[in-house]
Amino acid sequence: MSTEFILKQIDGAVAVLRLNRPDVLNALNIPLMDQLIGMLEAIDTDPGVRCVVLTGNDRAFAAGADIKEMAEASVVDMYERNNLARWERIKKVRKPIIAAVNGFCLGGGCELAMHCDMIIAGEGAQFGQPEINIGVIPGAGGTQRLTREAGKFRAMELILTGRFFGAKEAASIGMVTRVVPDALVVEESMKIAKDIASKSPMAVRFAKEAVLKAFDGTLADGLDYERKMFYMLFGTEDQKEGMKAFIEKRKANYTGK
Ligand code: CAA
Repeated sequence: MSTEFILKQIDGAVAVLRLNRPDVLNALNIPLMDQLIGMLEAIDTDPGVRCVVLTGNDRAFAAGADIKEMAEASVVDMYERNNLARWERIKKVRKPIIAAVNGFCLGGGCELAMHCDMIIAGEGAQFGQPEINIGVIPGAGGTQRLTREAGKFRAMELILTGRFFGAKEAASIGMVTRVVPDALVVEESMKIAKDIASKSPMAVRFAKEAVLKAFDGTLADGLDYERKMFYMLFGTEDQKEGMKAFIEKRKANYTGK
């Protein structure tokens, strides 16, 4: 069943989930993430589904965590709510998830795509970790996962400048599996998903598990560390200024406080 923010369609053994907050470029607020995670967990125990395609719309996969939802939060609020910890549950989904990305794929949106097992991107897709521009850092795995894909030096540039990068550059660093014409993103993702769905489900499950093992180890420590640092930034005036400036559509004035 679809929910308010996630549209679900079943095509054979493939579930297509569509993020659905078009007015705010699919900004990832808490209800959307709860609905998405709940749906992924239900799919994981549904024997009729063997692969998931996660997508957005033409304009955005997702433009990040919902800035308006957290702009006024304190360190204590962020630390106590610990909203980003629930993202760990996406990592535990055993069925393959293919991110089909068009448009903006920024901040938490880029991190959500990197939680998936493959990223198929349209030629016009725009990736980025622009959190630095609003006085914070990536908080849902960006500093760890992008660095593992791009290497230290490229990740530093992308995370410290927050610049957007296109689908071809994302493919060149190994983050995007395949770049296709924008109009074919979901179709191409479905082709791959149907191919995977035709294999032995147990072999697919074990293959996914084994590939992910290659990334374990210090990743958990890294994610924990990153999340704490993200919450700590809500004690700075610059975070308040950065997010307020975004909402008021003006340039931020950072003071280092
Ligand atoms: N949170 C909340 N609202 C958002 C949003 C976000 N991340 N991104 C876009 N929106 C809203 C805008 O506020 C705007 O709403 P209104 O019409 O009510 O003003 C609407 O979506 C359309 O956006 P724009 O008018 O800004 O569209 P644009 O085409 O001019 O710009 C954009 C597009 C460059 C993507 C710009 O919207 C933008 O920079 N968005 C924020 C990107 C960002 O900083 N993401 C990181 C968020 S923090 C994070 O994700 C933390 C983490 O690691 C977990």
